[in-house]
Amino acid sequence: AKVHYHDFVVQATPVKRLCKTQNAITVNGMFPGPTLEVNNGDTLVVNVVNRAQYNVTIHWHGVRQIRTGWADGPEFVTQCPIRPGGSYTYRFTIRGQEGTLWWHAHSSWLRATVYGALIIRPKQGDSYPFQKPKRETALLLGEWWNADPIAVIRQATRTGAAPNVSDAYTINGQPGDLYNCSSKDTLIVPVDSGETNLVRVVNAALNQQLFLKIANHKLTVVAADASYVKPFTTSVLMLGPGQTTDILITADQPPARYYIAARAYASAQGAPFDNTTTTAILEYKSAPCPAKGANVKPVMPRMPAFNDTATATAFTTSFRSPGRVEVPTKIDHNLFFTVGLGLNNCPPGASSSTCQGPNGTRFTASMNNVSFVLPSTLSLLQAHQQRMPGVFTTDFPASPPVRFDYTGNVSRSLWQPVPGTKLYKVRYGETVQLVLQGTSIFTAENHPIHLHGYDFYILAEGFGNFNPSRDLGKFNLIDPPLRNTASVPVGGWTVIRFLADNPGVWLMHCHLDVHIGWGLATAFLVDNGVGELETLEAPPPDLPAC
Ligand code: C2O
Repeated sequence: AKVHYHDFVVQATPVKRLCKTQNAITVNGMFPGPTLEVNNGDTLVVNVVNRAQYNVTIHWHGVRQIRTGWADGPEFVTQCPIRPGGSYTYRFTIRGQEGTLWWHAHSSWLRATVYGALIIRPKQGDSYPFQKPKRETALLLGEWWNADPIAVIRQATRTGAAPNVSDAYTINGQPGDLYNCSSKDTLIVPVDSGETNLVRVVNAALNQQLFLKIANHKLTVVAADASYVKPFTTSVLMLGPGQTTDILITADQPPARYYIAARAYASAQGAPFDNTTTTAILEYKSAPCPAKGANVKPVMPRMPAFNDTATATAFTTSFRSPGRVEVPTKIDHNLFFTVGLGLNNCPPGASSSTCQGPNGTRFTASMNNVSFVLPSTLSLLQAHQQRMPGVFTTDFPASPPVRFDYTGNVSRSLWQPVPGTKLYKVRYGETVQLVLQGTSIFTAENHPIHLHGYDFYILAEGFGNFNPSRDLGKFNLIDPPLRNTASVPVGGWTVIRFLADNPGVWLMHCHLDVHIGWGLATAFLVDNGVGELETLEAPPPDLPAC
């Protein structure tokens, strides 16, 4: 196994998009940032130097970080942020994961421009469990604002309103030729007729789940979130932010140019969303010359409607592990967490400029009615390791304080989220089953829920209220997929299960960043086990101080 050394310099860089040049925070002046390529079993050592004017941390999304929680990255969860002028070296090993992951800033909305791919090839000497691809391409889907994303979210936080939606979606940082001033930079993905290529798709967008299609081409899904899956064929992908999907595509169509297009799956009824389409072009190298002319448009796929939940769900429920897996059967913690948005009444006397949500409210979000608040004096992991009281409590409820019909609207007086830094505590080696129930308070919406430090099995998902007597029978205990981010369908539920074999403090949150700020998060505190191999490593000497 190899050790890969990288330097990441976080800095403001002028970037021109949509006819306008503005400073964006980048890594090494690149947008998206550098692609890291490793083999399963390799170690990464990434020295991050902060030359930007904002605090920053980097999260290695989906990397299990077994015993190396100090390298996980979410600010105030596993580390204090790297201050302007500071630096920190992330050191971790990839253990047993193969496929596509990614890295991104985990501090305010910096990840809008601070992200890149982490490609994990099979262990040295091993090959893919599918036909060897001719070429490999990574497609990172993103979102672009004609503004500093940090200013966009700060403004929303001040006013209690929803932040502005993005101005474009991007593929590898480029909006593509359907947007103004963007056509000459449209990403071209070349192919030779007949060859089969591996395409690694990452949804790095801040707030939007996205459909992706390649005109006239079938997509064979072979992996997701750096776990292989039983291959299946589809014409459309739907990825929530945080999710990755690896597909094989065979160039079996007449030589020409075909759009690779992505646009919103926006499930929240009536909520504004960015209704634009980003494109790249799949270009057959033998495409006849006129087809390469500027006026001949590539073939456009027919995209699903923005609210096509049937297509989104047909896709998310198609995943299986490649074969039979050992799902833990003894459940130590049987949890039921509600996930959803809400509105908080403004306190009497609050100025109306800070309560610009619907009818003078403030937007909020919660799990089991707790709106997660990050500490600011010490990270949760440091507080846990130093046994420092007063930073967090471990009384996160195992089920919601009130049960009601989660698919109907509920009175705000019944459900005012309470802010808190509450963790849920688990012992090393215990198993956790978690029902994630979407609520329809204010509005129902699909939530991509991401768990740090673990991959979990998705046993089932469905619509309406989770009902054990009806829904237990739907659990797939044979070959459920292993993921790090699960869609909780709009007005529905998802059940996940994992073995808590990684000591530390592990954030779980909605990967729509606007929801994290509103509190749609909590964290699992997993105690050390007995042996050295069941114990969190010592913190690195250069761990930033708060
Ligand atoms: Cu991809 Cu907590 O993040």
